Amino acid sequence: MSVVDGPVPKHRQLRDILMGLVETELVPDAPVPSERDLMARYDVSRATVREAIGSLVSEGRLYRVRGKGTFVAAARVESQMHLASFTEDMRRRGHKPSTVVLGSDETAAPPPARSALGLDVTDRAYRIERLRSADGAPMAHEVSWLPAAPLPGMLERDLTSSIYSILAHDYGRVLDSAAQTMWAEGADPLRARLLRVPPAAPLLVFRKTSYASGRPMEHVTSWYRADRYQVHMTLDRTPHNGSPFDRPGQGYSSAGTRDY
Ligand code: GLP
Repeated sequence: MSVVDGPVPKHRQLRDILMGLVETELVPDAPVPSERDLMARYDVSRATVREAIGSLVSEGRLYRVRGKGTFVAAARVESQMHLASFTEDMRRRGHKPSTVVLGSDETAAPPPARSALGLDVTDRAYRIERLRSADGAPMAHEVSWLPAAPLPGMLERDLTSSIYSILAHDYGRVLDSAAQTMWAEGADPLRARLLRVPPAAPLLVFRKTSYASGRPMEHVTSWYRADRYQVHMTLDRTPHNGSPFDRPGQGYSSAGTRDY
C-alpha cells in the first residue's frame, strides 16, 4: 500500500492504511510505527502523519501515552439496548466481568432518586457505588439507588456480583422494564482516575429507572468509558411517549439537571 497524489487527501489514505494494520496485524496495546517511520515508509509529511493518527485517536482506535507513543486501542464492547445487567452483558460478549464496591449505605435518597423510586421523604434507600471492569480493565462507574423497604438486608449480599440476579433470586423482583436517558460527558478528575482515562476523556452516561412489575426498583447512573463501549439500537417509526421522568421540568430531560 502506498500514499499517492489524487482526489483522496493523503492523511485520509494513510488513516485507511493504518486502520488496515490495526484490524489485521496489530493487537490491542501494540505500538503503532513512529511518526518518523511512517513519514519514511509512505513518503509523507509529519503533518499528514499527525492528521491520520489524530483521526484514529479521535475515533477511539488508537490511544496516546505521553512520552511513550501511540498504541492500538482494544475494540469497544458493543451492547444492545436492552435491560441487561452488566455481568450478563459482559459474559454474553465473552468478557470476564469484575466489580469493586466503592461504597454502600442506607440513607435518605436525594430528591431526583426519591421521586424516580416513588419514595416519601422519610423512606430509606440504599446507595451502592461500584466500579465495573471487563477483563480486568475499568469499564464503568455506577451509582445505584434502590428502595430499602422491599429489599431488607440487601447491603449484606455480595454486591460484587450481579445486583439484578440478587433482586431476582433473593427478593423475587425481576426487572422487566426501564426508561433510560443517555448523554456524553468529559471525565472529571476523580472519575478519570477511577476509570484510568485522562481527565476530560469522553464518557457515555446512562441514567435509568428500572421496574419490576411496574414498581420502581432501581435508579442508577452509569459512566462508561466511551473508548471501550458502544451501544447498538434498533429503531422503528413508532413514536413513544416519554416516561414521566423524561419530561422537561422534571430534572431528567436533556435540558434538566443531571444531579443524582
Ligand atoms: C448495567 C446497567 C446498570 C445496572 C447494572 C446491573 O451496568 N447500566 O444500570 O445497574 O447493569 O448490573 P449487575 O446485575 O451486574 O449488578
